[in-house]
Amino acid sequence: MAEKPWGGRFADRTDRRVEQFTESISFDHRLFEHDIRGSIAHARMLAHVGLVSPAECERIVQGLSEIRAEIAEGRFPFSIEKEDIHMHIESALIDRLGDVGRKLHTARSRNDQVSTDVKLWTRDAIDAIDGLLLGLQRSFVGLAERHRGLILPGYTHLQRAQPVLAPHYALAYVEKLARDRDRLADCRRRLNVLPLGAAALAGTTLPIDREFVARELGFDAVAPNSLDVSSDRDFLAETLFCLALIAEHLSGWAEEWILWSTQEFGFLLLPDAVCTGSSIMPQKKNPDVLELIRGRTARVVGALHTILVLMKGLPLAYNRDLQEDKLPLFDAVDTVSSCLDLASVVVSGASLDRERIAARLDEGFLDATTLMEYLILKGVPQRTGHEVVGKLVSLCESRRCRLADLPPDDLRAACPAIEEDVAGSLGVENAVKAFRSYGSTAPAEVDRQLTEWKGRLA
Ligand code: ARG
Repeated sequence: MAEKPWGGRFADRTDRRVEQFTESISFDHRLFEHDIRGSIAHARMLAHVGLVSPAECERIVQGLSEIRAEIAEGRFPFSIEKEDIHMHIESALIDRLGDVGRKLHTARSRNDQVSTDVKLWTRDAIDAIDGLLLGLQRSFVGLAERHRGLILPGYTHLQRAQPVLAPHYALAYVEKLARDRDRLADCRRRLNVLPLGAAALAGTTLPIDREFVARELGFDAVAPNSLDVSSDRDFLAETLFCLALIAEHLSGWAEEWILWSTQEFGFLLLPDAVCTGSSIMPQKKNPDVLELIRGRTARVVGALHTILVLMKGLPLAYNRDLQEDKLPLFDAVDTVSSCLDLASVVVSGASLDRERIAARLDEGFLDATTLMEYLILKGVPQRTGHEVVGKLVSLCESRRCRLADLPPDDLRAACPAIEEDVAGSLGVENAVKAFRSYGSTAPAEVDRQLTEWKGRLA
């Protein structure tokens, strides 16, 4: 019968079904590196304050390093009797070192230990995801550079609205990803506060040095309230919100590109390498990667829901419910990481079909708003200009022509303020050149922003 580290007050052994029901080793083994990192820092602190001797500390550090290697190489046996990764590592240390190993858990509880491990793991995950976001930003900048000068129809309500330059379009995603990175950095800053030393919930009577541990583990501060630490998973809710918003951004983009790669749009050419075929229809080339990026967003949003509902209604301090926090965390991190990675592959390999896009650019009156603004510059009140151009659009629709095709007489009849120079505001090319506001699709403005982003992401 396997002895439990907490077994002193128990006369009977644990029911096997309870062991199966309560174990977390099947998923929290992923924390092993971080658990050992935390334990080494803790052991050094114990030596620093004299709760273990320097020689004992050395043996503990050595033992933990060996266990780390065993787990990393797949030579370490896991079993549900030992519940979780923390007890596996500690009991392996005790097997090696006897009484010296039995000192490691001095002034520590699994509650502050789990929180520390999960924070260390999440901090690394945030850093890795930041790198993937940067990679995707660079892919979008690459897309912008490959399509300089290309004009796209811009949409609202998925109806043609105003023309935009392709780099302006690509940089819109670079901006969203920049906010995603900024949000993660902010979340990381609040996360980076050391839980260890809170012990179970009330702290310890032992003379520990929490600042020492914080320095060892790269935490910026020490959590000031042990009860709070024992119950706190805010940092996971925040992380999962950040991940959910990244997934939402990817999902919207994926939806757009799925549409753009249809025959009906015909805007986008996806490389064979990121598409799949049909087992029955020989002609098919499907955007499955984009569809799965869109679909997996459900899992990430689900993970955010899971953590929020998990945290709801828990009294202070630690409750075993919190063991369930790692499942949504791991799943969301894995999912968002692979989605970002694949998104970058798709964006880097995709190209916009200049000819097909240009061939239909005259449809949808993309220059109508430019014409209205021309009238405003001639002194016509905005509402009047709006109505004049609306009527001209209606006239064009009945004649199946463009605004630029209307004879000068028809234009002047609609509004005497229209002069010969109106030609400079008509047609999609002129409409793009007419923009001037900061943040607009004006060619000089887009060029400036592209140069700026290239510098920032270099
Ligand atoms: N496996 C547990 C978890 O992840 C460890 C903490 C157990 N603490 C306790 N007081 N039983 O939450």
